[in-house]
Amino acid sequence: ALLWLYIFPVYRIPSDKEMVDEVLRQGQTWSRNQTGVDLYRKLLTECCDPKRMFAVTKENSPIGKVLWYDGEIYHYHTVTNETYPIFVQDTPLQLPLKKCSVVGNGGVLKHSGCGKEIDQAEFIMRCNLPPLSKEYTTDVGTRTHLVSANPSIIEKNFQNLLWSRKSFVESMKAYGSSYIYIPAFSMKPGTEPSLRAYHALADFASNQTVLFANPDFLKNVGQFWKNHGVHGKRLSTGLFLVSLALGLCEEVTAYGFWPFSVGLDERPVSHHYYDNILPSSRFHAMPEEFLQLWHLHKSGTLRMRVGDCA
Ligand code: CTP
Repeated sequence: ALLWLYIFPVYRIPSDKEMVDEVLRQGQTWSRNQTGVDLYRKLLTECCDPKRMFAVTKENSPIGKVLWYDGEIYHYHTVTNETYPIFVQDTPLQLPLKKCSVVGNGGVLKHSGCGKEIDQAEFIMRCNLPPLSKEYTTDVGTRTHLVSANPSIIEKNFQNLLWSRKSFVESMKAYGSSYIYIPAFSMKPGTEPSLRAYHALADFASNQTVLFANPDFLKNVGQFWKNHGVHGKRLSTGLFLVSLALGLCEEVTAYGFWPFSVGLDERPVSHHYYDNILPSSRFHAMPEEFLQLWHLHKSGTLRMRVGDCA
């Protein structure tokens, strides 16, 4: 709330035009503030322990452990002989990561020319199995180290993996040998398709590693941002990944986060870089999330890239 009062003296979400003006006022100048970086790493470590907790591991979830779904109440999964073996032993990343790119799917990436810069990072995170075909390369890059996959996409695009396992595995090749980060224990109906995705990749000997998002981590990160004034029903995937990056990486740059309908040139911007299908407004509070990210940008904690990278 204080942030809003600071940027916009009246307590309300700014209009698209006000947000454009605010970003333009700030301009391209940005400098890293190590105190801010250290502070957020400390805060996120205290609330959410990303290093140890971001994925379900054999280490943090032994047989018998109860995993409470973070997206609904009263549902839980007890780790069994069947699920335990499919968890990784421990956090598999080589930490600390130096330079990370977190790529949201916003239409602001279109014609941004950010691909090269995105690809220069040591670790690149992307959201929701985004298209990376040739036509997008200049704007979004080609490399991926971690990509999130919501079970709803598996359900919608791959018939829940009841028929089309091979085409799923084929399409995943766009993400190289990355980690596939699946929130399998967020909503009950998502568990089955998530486990099927794991088995499909394993059966076809894919070189990708499935990491199941730890529902305790997601819940704690959600609470962290709620305490900072983000009021959506659920955080967007992008903010989960930025939070993860702030906990794991020394330098974070975020691309494709712009949930507004006009760009810095005041021309219309599509919702995604690949289509203009709007989100269901019931779930997320993306403009509120953006304000938090913008605050982190202004304080030198992470860098937001809105507009051209040239
Ligand atoms: N995003 C953004 N501005 C946009 C579109 C997306 O800031 N115009 C960010 C959001 O953080 C979002 C992420 O990019 O989570 C990935 O976008 P998308 O795949 O559209 O996410 P959603 O479908 O809304 O789903 P969810 O966040 O629930 O995974």
